[in-house]
Amino acid sequence: MNITYYGHSCFEVKINNKKIIFDPFICSNPLAHNINIDAIEADYILISHGHEDHIADAEHLAKITNAQIICNWEIGVWLEKKGVKNINPMNIGGKIKLDFGNVKCVSAIHSSSLPDGSYGGNPMGFVIESSEGNFYYAGDTALTYDMKLIGDYRKINFAFLPIGDHFTMGVDNAIIACDFIQCDTIIGMHYDTFEKIKINKLEAQNKFKLSGNNLILLNIGETKLISN
Ligand code: NI
Ligand code: MN
Repeated sequence: MNITYYGHSCFEVKINNKKIIFDPFICSNPLAHNINIDAIEADYILISHGHEDHIADAEHLAKITNAQIICNWEIGVWLEKKGVKNINPMNIGGKIKLDFGNVKCVSAIHSSSLPDGSYGGNPMGFVIESSEGNFYYAGDTALTYDMKLIGDYRKINFAFLPIGDHFTMGVDNAIIACDFIQCDTIIGMHYDTFEKIKINKLEAQNKFKLSGNNLILLNIGETKLISN
C-alpha cells in the first residue's frame, strides 16, 4: 500500500487503486504549506472526529473530488448542511463493505465537537481490511484496553497511532498499544504540528526500537510503500 503524508493526522492510503484520505487538515496546518490541496485526488474521505485539526478541509476536499465521506452520524448531518452530497454516516462497531475493502469503526477515547461548537458525536478509529492488507487508523485517542479487541479481531499489518501526547496518548503509551493491537509497524501522527505536541523524533524512534517495534515518521509530502 502506498501511503502519502499530508501532515498532522492526514494521510492518503492507496488501496486497490482507490485513494482514501484520512482527517484532512492541510490549508491551516502551518507545517503543510508545501501541499496543494487542489491537487489531491480522493475516492473516500474518512473523518475520525469533529475537531478542527481533523475536519478543516473536509468540506472543500469533498466538493472538489466528490469523494464519499465516511464519518459518524453527527458529523455527517453537519457536513450535509454545508452542501456536501456524498456522505456515508456510520457509528462505532459498524462495518461496511466498499469497493476497495471494508471499513470498521472502532472506539477512541477522546472528545468531539465541531469547529462551530456544535455536537460532534463520539470520536472513532477505523480498521481497514482489504486484499492488500489490514490496518488500524486510531484517530485521536488515549491508550485503551479496547485496542486489544482490534488485535484479536484481525491481523493488523500496520497502524497509524497518535504519539504527540498532551491531547492524545504519547510515545510510551503508543508502544503499549503495539502489544494490544499485536502490530509492530507504526506510522506516527498527531505530533509536532503545535507547540504542545512537539516531540523528540529520534528519541521516540529509539524507544520503539528498544521495545521491538518500528516507528515510521514520514516527511510531509512523502510517499512510502508499506508492504505486508
Ligand atoms: Ni481531537
Ligand atoms: Mn487532534
